[in-house]
Amino acid sequence: MRILAIESSCDETAAAIVADERRMLANVVASQQALHAQTGGVVPEVAARAHLRALVPVVRRALAEAECGWDEIDAVAATAGPGLPGALVVGLNGARGIAFARGLPLIPVDHIEGHVCANWLTGRGADPSIAGELPRGRGTGTPGEPPVPPLPALALVISGGHTELLLMEDHGRFERLGGTRDDAAGEAFDKVARLLGLGYPGGPPVARLADEASERALRLPRAWLPRSDDFSFSGLKTAVLHALEGEAPPPAAEVAWAFQESVADVLSRKAARVAEREGVASLLVAGGVASNRRIRELIVERAPVAVFLPPPALCTDNAAMIAAAAFRHLDDARAPEASIDIRPVAYRSRRPRGPARR
Ligand code: KG4
Ligand code: ZN
Repeated sequence: MRILAIESSCDETAAAIVADERRMLANVVASQQALHAQTGGVVPEVAARAHLRALVPVVRRALAEAECGWDEIDAVAATAGPGLPGALVVGLNGARGIAFARGLPLIPVDHIEGHVCANWLTGRGADPSIAGELPRGRGTGTPGEPPVPPLPALALVISGGHTELLLMEDHGRFERLGGTRDDAAGEAFDKVARLLGLGYPGGPPVARLADEASERALRLPRAWLPRSDDFSFSGLKTAVLHALEGEAPPPAAEVAWAFQESVADVLSRKAARVAEREGVASLLVAGGVASNRRIRELIVERAPVAVFLPPPALCTDNAAMIAAAAFRHLDDARAPEASIDIRPVAYRSRRPRGPARR
């Protein structure tokens, strides 16, 4: 079975074709980053218009790269949310139009679940790097292929729009344990980049500047939020501002390094602690910030279970992850004429206060 998926929740217009649940045949991403660099961030209306221009070309290219004809596509999937409403409308309705024209079912997909499912992808450009020992006998899959992450898993989704800790009991079954109370991890990188006079998106240039730090003494605060699985990064951003505006400001590289250490420390310690408490079989990391080398390193070092990290190109927004998630929701396939709407805001339920899984 082959699914054509479209992703358009923020500033990448993407189309992909995935076969048999995890094998990528094509994964095309048209980034709008250069466009949004001019304004230092995403202007929603500008993003929606750019999606409209890019959508048909990326779908055509995905089909060409996969050497796949329309008759070989069995279903169309698209991100329904969360994301920018105008941007989502373009992708979801583009997918609806294709499904209608081809007489195919349409599968709406949750973007955050898509990020997590990037850990299942194989094929050209995938090769998920696996860190840590898989618990013996728990990893399954075809010999010679990357192992399938064992469940239940804890998923840490760290992106420009989200910082979420989710318990994944089974495919499509997520329970939200915690998330950011203010800025998402990627948003913090983007805002700190702006304070440091670096470009958008801020993650990569902040990470590069951090690598250049010769002095590594500055310590910025960590918001631990005890007895909660939530995160907070806005105080850290203010601490960066104060460090830069102080009497004798440290070099910018040292500030970038101290900021990255603080984010990496909090994300890795909290994820490790929750993974231990919940007794999960693996830790699945995903989202654009998961491409950060230092964050990957600390998570792998501290996690008490096998860690799965997609390669950097599958951490940032792409449509292959949306197709992978769609395979887990074949029951949600609808006729394209059905009323399917975007869901701009994450609606995942939060666990009521109570005991851990075990
Ligand atoms: O997952 P993604 O592509 O889009 C969202 O769904 O938000 O994540 C984009 C975010 C941006 O905030 C960007 O600054 C951050 O991921 N990012 C990084 C790195 N690469 C991208 N943050 C830290 N280090 C990186 N190397
Ligand atoms: Zn994303």
